[in-house]
Amino acid sequence: MNKEGLRSQGWFGRTGKDGFIYRAWMKNQGIPDEEFRGRPVIGICNTWSEFTPCNAHFRELAESVKKGVIAAGGFPVEFPVMSLGETLIKPTAMLYRNLASMDVEESIRANPMDGVVLLCGCDKTTPSLVMGACSVNLPTIVVSGGAMLTGRFRGKTIGTSDVWRFNDAVRSGEMTEAELRMAEASMCRSRGHCAVMGTASTMACMVESLGLTLPDNAAIPAADSRRKVLAQYSGQRIVDMVKENLRLSDILTREAFENAIMVNAAIGGSTNFVLHLLAIAGRIGVELNLEDFDRFSQGIPLLANLQPSGEYFMEDFYYAGGLPAVMRQLHEKLHHGTIAVSGKPIAENYAEAVTYDEKVIGTMDKPFKEMSGIAVVKGNLCSEGAVLKPSAASPHLMKHKGQAVVFDNIEDYHARIDDPDLPVTRDSVLVLKNVGPVGYPGMPEVGNMALPKKLLEEGVEDIVRISDGRMSGTGFGTVVLHVSPESATGGTLALVRDGDWIELDVEARSLQLLVDDDELATRHAAWRASHTVQQRGYVGLYQQHVQQSHLGADMDFLRGASGSKVTRDSH
Ligand code: FES
Repeated sequence: MNKEGLRSQGWFGRTGKDGFIYRAWMKNQGIPDEEFRGRPVIGICNTWSEFTPCNAHFRELAESVKKGVIAAGGFPVEFPVMSLGETLIKPTAMLYRNLASMDVEESIRANPMDGVVLLCGCDKTTPSLVMGACSVNLPTIVVSGGAMLTGRFRGKTIGTSDVWRFNDAVRSGEMTEAELRMAEASMCRSRGHCAVMGTASTMACMVESLGLTLPDNAAIPAADSRRKVLAQYSGQRIVDMVKENLRLSDILTREAFENAIMVNAAIGGSTNFVLHLLAIAGRIGVELNLEDFDRFSQGIPLLANLQPSGEYFMEDFYYAGGLPAVMRQLHEKLHHGTIAVSGKPIAENYAEAVTYDEKVIGTMDKPFKEMSGIAVVKGNLCSEGAVLKPSAASPHLMKHKGQAVVFDNIEDYHARIDDPDLPVTRDSVLVLKNVGPVGYPGMPEVGNMALPKKLLEEGVEDIVRISDGRMSGTGFGTVVLHVSPESATGGTLALVRDGDWIELDVEARSLQLLVDDDELATRHAAWRASHTVQQRGYVGLYQQHVQQSHLGADMDFLRGASGSKVTRDSH
């Protein structure tokens, strides 16, 4: 335990008027007096919301956590924070990730808790909670909500990645709107988050590989009763973590981040992983840069045969052995000694793991694909870097030279993409500007632009696409994302014109706009930003302080931590 004793006793252990006030109002919830006498207070940080369907079962999950906390002698107190539902929030949930993290940070610090359980599921709810908790650095454990059961439609398995395929099928006339409507209910047929290795599943794997969860957190389906058992054990464990004073900074070492990058490569995790891990590292004070993602992915094959890079779903992943089975395969590569929430080396989390189905989880000798991870490309088009997911790209486009077809913003793209006169061929490079952190604002998931109808009708399935935006973790294609610096801040992307030649060479990690420097300087001198900067509210604050994507798109003033101490006390 913290040598100064339980933090919560700074509230509940007081005598006189202050102690009376701190305890009396809590007692209106029917809490007996002994709860306040030195029991570790465990905050259960809940992102439950019916507007976040992926997390809509979290009140039930919180009850399981509470049972564990009580069994271990703790005092559980559940509290809500801003919840970000990927599918409904406009203009994009990413705009609010940093805001939610501020809510989490301040809620934890301001309240009488000794340890925290983070309940997260849908994409942004995991990084925002971990980022906020890192800036306070109390003992913390994560419980993910689990993925949905695999969708089934007309005898076939379906998942979120099929949304893009269905959309293309409707546009090319292979599927009717009525059939599309029928597919909706077939896809989301149980509680939980997206059932593929999209961003939510990637985040669940990220926290498990970092050591922030009990084993199997990433893959137990939301509807499986063992998810509740995991939640209960996590509630039990956090009480001991408080007694051991095991904090986030003890777990989140540089080696833990390197482990997470290697595991992400092996599972074919989302490109959004890059942004979120960089932001988390910035909060806990670990040096991490974009090149680290490429460097630590080297030599790691793709082991998980999961959509969108492969064939199977998160449910299959669990039955095949889940993340511990993947980590056991990676044992020779991983840092074994990093400490997990168990208080023991992370290697103990997977030492006994078994792979039950090698079609779903390959071995190092017989991986699903040799190529994995995140490729970081650099060049005059992205001097600070850009990312591409090789396992979701087309091998024949990994080295490609083509002429740009430029869209100034996402509205321009929607207005013209299906214009029969658009000068686009299968060799073109689609370029989308003004979808970066500042320009959109909030960096929406539009980077995997749907292909022009006329190319779809020709049977073209992929062309090179480049933007300063993001891609859904369920998306795929030869898509260069997170171009930094973004176009709205005057990066070279802003200067690209229709017909310019662009050369992508993934093996050489290069992305070049083949326009000479003098011409680029002339264009830059004439360039004027076209986006609007808000002057009020959170969006104004965000646009003025968000950092570029190669730094994780966190706010400049949120990097680092303020700790858990409350410096003023008005009572
Ligand atoms: Fe919530 Fe995909 S929409 S995880």
